[in-house]
Amino acid sequence: DKGGFKHFMAKEIAEQPVVLQGALSHYISADGTAVTMPEPEIDFAKVERMTMVACGTAFYACLVAKYWFEQIASVPVEVDVASEFRYREPPVTAGTVALFVSQSGETADTLAALRYMEGKADKIMSVVNVPESSIARESDLPLPILAGTEIGVASTKAFTCQLTTLAILALRAAQMRGKLSDVELAEKLTALRALPGLMNHALGIEQTSKDISRKLAEARDILFLGRGAMYPLALEGALKLKEISYIHAEAYASGELKHGPIALVDKHVPVIVMAPRDSLFDKTVSNMQEVMARGGKVLLITDQKGADEAGEGVWDTIIMPEIDPFLAPILYAIPAQLLAYHTAVAKGTDVDQPRNLAKSVTVE
Ligand code: F6R
Repeated sequence: DKGGFKHFMAKEIAEQPVVLQGALSHYISADGTAVTMPEPEIDFAKVERMTMVACGTAFYACLVAKYWFEQIASVPVEVDVASEFRYREPPVTAGTVALFVSQSGETADTLAALRYMEGKADKIMSVVNVPESSIARESDLPLPILAGTEIGVASTKAFTCQLTTLAILALRAAQMRGKLSDVELAEKLTALRALPGLMNHALGIEQTSKDISRKLAEARDILFLGRGAMYPLALEGALKLKEISYIHAEAYASGELKHGPIALVDKHVPVIVMAPRDSLFDKTVSNMQEVMARGGKVLLITDQKGADEAGEGVWDTIIMPEIDPFLAPILYAIPAQLLAYHTAVAKGTDVDQPRNLAKSVTVE
């Protein structure tokens, strides 16, 4: 049942504030001051490193989580795509926690990577949407993301619920490692609890995204740029767009632009810059100016202050609500999803069942 929406994808995008609320109440105490993880918890004070493995969108959730665990909890994190990890047979040293992220919990490569880590990692965690799935059953500590059934092939609400679960886990790890005081933790949890409201607000960009998407639908190639934890969001935006609109899209870390990809920029290539006003904003603005100086059409996704600071010359802007930079990757998933969705609708593709793709990839 599409609940009045034209596609499951549109319904699942719109559902995000509600399902996210569910995930937040599952992992945060009613008084909003503590993280409530299932027992027995992992003692993060003893963890030396984490290895996170997944495919596709779930892999990008891991890439965001790497920034969080390293910056907030000071845990070194390696992230790999499951199809590479399983055959590389990496050495595993004591003190390693393995974490697998999967919406379906049945992705063949991710499951094989999990089985490779059995008996090698100290603990196997998973972040899954389907609680009775193979990946959930075979891990020591499965964490449900509570997104509800996701039908659209392009993952949307599962991604933001994966991120939310991982953000809370990173905060808990930081607390256990003495990197975050109780006051700081409570502040971050308050910011998290404000997310559903901000998401509702962000969903208000629907009409703007629709208008911009009509122009994006004419493009042959589109670039996405982001820095820090927004780099994986750029990757997710490009994946979502190519998957359902069949437009060639690529993402780069903003700082990599001048090492090659800037050669692609001309007046026909929209460049989507995902840039909340964080500590790296100025650097992203100068990358953006390099693009504009070469005739590139910049679509800037930022907040009002960011738009004011970035000045003139951009092709278009999407204004997002202001948010704690720590949580920006979760909120900025919304414009990534809406642009992909409306571009696909403008092109008339089969949004919920894109060609050549399956919802659950149970063969490698
Ligand atoms: C993209 C998408 C895929 C999946 C990937 C992993 O929109 O849905 O990239 O994220 O196939 O699937 P799960 O999470 O089920 O392991």
